[in-house]
Amino acid sequence: MPITTCVFDAYGTLFDVTSAARRAADEPGNAALQDNWQQIARDWRQKQLQYTWLRAVTGAHCDFWEVTQNGLDWALENASISDPHLRERLLALYWELAAYPEVPAMLAALKTAGYRTAILSNGSPDMLQAAVRSAGVAGDLDDVLSVETAGVFKPHTSVYELVGKRFDCAKHDVLFVSSNGWDAGCATGYGFNCVWVNRAAEPVDRLPWIPAHSTKDLTDIPALAAQL
Ligand code: LAC
Repeated sequence: MPITTCVFDAYGTLFDVTSAARRAADEPGNAALQDNWQQIARDWRQKQLQYTWLRAVTGAHCDFWEVTQNGLDWALENASISDPHLRERLLALYWELAAYPEVPAMLAALKTAGYRTAILSNGSPDMLQAAVRSAGVAGDLDDVLSVETAGVFKPHTSVYELVGKRFDCAKHDVLFVSSNGWDAGCATGYGFNCVWVNRAAEPVDRLPWIPAHSTKDLTDIPALAAQL
């Protein structure tokens, strides 16, 4: 059964979440970041994601902006940084994250080939619209789906269900692409065809479901979609 619909995770997959700390470290006045921006970016991301999972299992949902701020506060304190201006700057940069370089051409190729394309993300609608606008890729996306419609974070099943509801398609019509191993694994369990974008050559997540495909970046997604 051919793929009709290509759906992408946003943060870490289309948009480089480390770019906020990297850009801030290059700016004058942010010397505090120069030696440890990578550790801060890593802590920020890990805590942000842990908080989404904990809020999903306890039923204490909030939006992604709140866990993004909570994760940054933990990361800055862990680095012994207390600087309200730097905090505000890092948060502002999160609204204009860099897209990975291959993203615009890859999305354009999918649209030219006739696929429906969308984002399915934990991000709140306003965060996602800002990221899509700043990356200049709105024209090659048919929709931007946020977990806010489901009221719970990934990997809750009701999030993955948003795709079938929006595009009136079966699970096996969908190619779901995520750089988050847990997201690609759980979406495989849900029933999507999945690609894990493994930029850092990490070990596969030990979950009951292993994504059928993995790539080092997004370049080959149109060719892979055409093969399935
Ligand atoms: C997202 C997170 C998982 O965009 O990165 O949904």
